[in-house]
Amino acid sequence: MARVAVTGGAGFIGSNLVAALAEKGHSIVVVDDLSTGLASNINSDICDFHELSIVDQAPLSQALKDVEVIFHLAARGSVPRSLKSPVATHDVNATGTLNVLEIARANGAHVIYSSSSSVYGRNGVLPKDETMWLGPMTPYAASKMAAEGYVQAYGAAYDVPVTLFRFFNVFGPRQRPDHEYAAVLPKWIWKAMHKQAIEVYGDGTQSRDFTYVQTVVDLCLDAMERKVTHEGAINLAFGNRITLNSTIEMMKIHFPDLKVNFLPIRPGDVKESQNAPALLKELFPKIAPVQFEVALAETVAWLKDEGETVANGPTVSD
Ligand SMILES: NC(=O)c1ccc[n+]([C@@H]2O[C@H](COP(=O)([O-])OP(=O)(O)OC[C@H]3O[C@@H](n4cnc5c(N)ncnc54)[C@H](O)[C@@H]3O)[C@@H](O)[C@H]2O)c1
Repeated sequence: MARVAVTGGAGFIGSNLVAALAEKGHSIVVVDDLSTGLASNINSDICDFHELSIVDQAPLSQALKDVEVIFHLAARGSVPRSLKSPVATHDVNATGTLNVLEIARANGAHVIYSSSSSVYGRNGVLPKDETMWLGPMTPYAASKMAAEGYVQAYGAAYDVPVTLFRFFNVFGPRQRPDHEYAAVLPKWIWKAMHKQAIEVYGDGTQSRDFTYVQTVVDLCLDAMERKVTHEGAINLAFGNRITLNSTIEMMKIHFPDLKVNFLPIRPGDVKESQNAPALLKELFPKIAPVQFEVALAETVAWLKDEGETVANGPTVSD
C-alpha cells in the first residue's frame, strides 16, 4: 500500500478519489483550503487532513513530505470566476502547481495532474486530440495551460514521473449543485428537483463530452497502480459528444415537467467539445466508461438521496 496525497481532496472529484483509495487500503493525505470543497467530504478516519492552501509552499511541503504519489486536483475552478479574478486564478492554478511539482522533485513522487479541455479554447476543430494547437480564451484556461507546461517541464528536466490528464466535463455524486459557479448537470438536476426552470446559455445546440466521475477515478487509480506516465497530455473523455438539448431530453425521463429558459450565451463558453480518445484507450485499455444515461440516472438518484450533504456549502468568493 502506498502513501498517497490528494490535493483538492474535499472537492467533487477529489473526495470520490479519496473514498476509492481508502477502499484499497492506501494511506492518504488530503490538502484542501475548503474554498469550494466541503469539510463534510473529509472523513478523518480514512485520511490525514491538512487545511491549507497550495500557494503556501512551506506548510504544503511539510504535509506532503513522505508521499509517493500526488493526485493534484486542487484548483480555483470555473471560467466565469477566472474572468473576474485572473491573478488569483493564476496564483492557485499555475503557481500552486509549481509548488506541488517542487515537492515531487524533492521526494521523487509521481504527480497525476488534472488539466482541462478548456486549454483548446479558440481551436474549434473536432474531435480534439493531443497534437492540436491550444488557444486559451480565459484566465482559467491559461492557468491550466501554464500548469501543463510546468508538469511537462518537470517530467523532462527533472525526471519527475508525471501523468497529465486533461479532463473534459466530469459529473456525478458529490458535485456541488448550489453555487453560482456550479457545473451544468448538478445545477440543472438540483433546480429540476426543486421544480425550478433550468437555464441554458445559448440555444442548447452546444455540445459536451461528459465523463462520469467513477470513470475518472478508475483512470486515476490505474495511472497510479501501473505507474502510467507520458511525456505529453492525455485527454480524458471517451468521445461521447452530446448536445445540451439531448441532455435535456434525457433529464425529462427523470423530470417530465422540466421547464427550460434559454438565455444569451456567456463570454468564454466553449461551443463544442469532443475528444478523440485514441491515446486514452491505448494507455488505459482496461478502463471502460460508464454509459451517460446510467451515470445520469445514478447522479439524479444520489442528489435526491444525499444532495443536501453538498448543497448550501460555503459561498464561493470571486
Ligand atoms: N469537474 C470538471 O468537469 C473538471 C473539468 C476539467 C478540469 N477539472 C479539474 O479537476 C480538478 C478537480 O475539480 P473538481 O470538479 O473536483 O472541483 P472542486 O472545486 O470540487 O475541487 C477543487 C478543490 O480544490 C480546493 N482548492 C481550491 N483552491 C485551493 C487552494 N489554493 N489550496 C488548496 N485547495 C484548494 C477546493 O476547496 C476544492 O475542494 C481541478 O483541478 C479542476 O480544474 C475538473
